Amino acid sequence: MPKSENYELVLKQIKALIEDEKDLIANLSNVSSALHYTFNFHWTGFYIVKNNELVLGPFQGPVACTRIGFDKGVCGTAWKNKKPIRVDNVHLFEKHIACSALSNSEIVLPLMKNEEVWGVLDIDSTEFDAFEPVDEEYLLQIVSEVNKLL
Ligand code: SME
Repeated sequence: MPKSENYELVLKQIKALIEDEKDLIANLSNVSSALHYTFNFHWTGFYIVKNNELVLGPFQGPVACTRIGFDKGVCGTAWKNKKPIRVDNVHLFEKHIACSALSNSEIVLPLMKNEEVWGVLDIDSTEFDAFEPVDEEYLLQIVSEVNKLL
């Protein structure tokens, strides 16, 4: 099945999962799980801005770094730039923070409310070049649903 069809399905699933639930942690948990198990990513989860740091939130996958500073790692860079970042080869991204040696490519999308970043969605793959424009396009739609939760 093409990626876009999987994204259409998971987008519908995510909307259904979160529409009647107000609890942020419950919703972020289900969003990370729906994405993770649809695409078999290596790591799928959220970091939330708390006291000017990104702090680990709901995720699926191996244990991860708990805190990431502003402009640190791919996550802190997406926070600073207020823009998604796709990294085809994390080993060539100088600021990359390696939580897992198995990760080879990554996409990070900032969560925004009123022009401010309140967290990020971070996804890692064991494959190089795993994230294409189509991933970014659909993940932006998912992130826009997540932003409504705040
Ligand atoms: N690689 C990320 C750190 C978080 S883990 O991938 C879960 C980064 O460079 O910000």
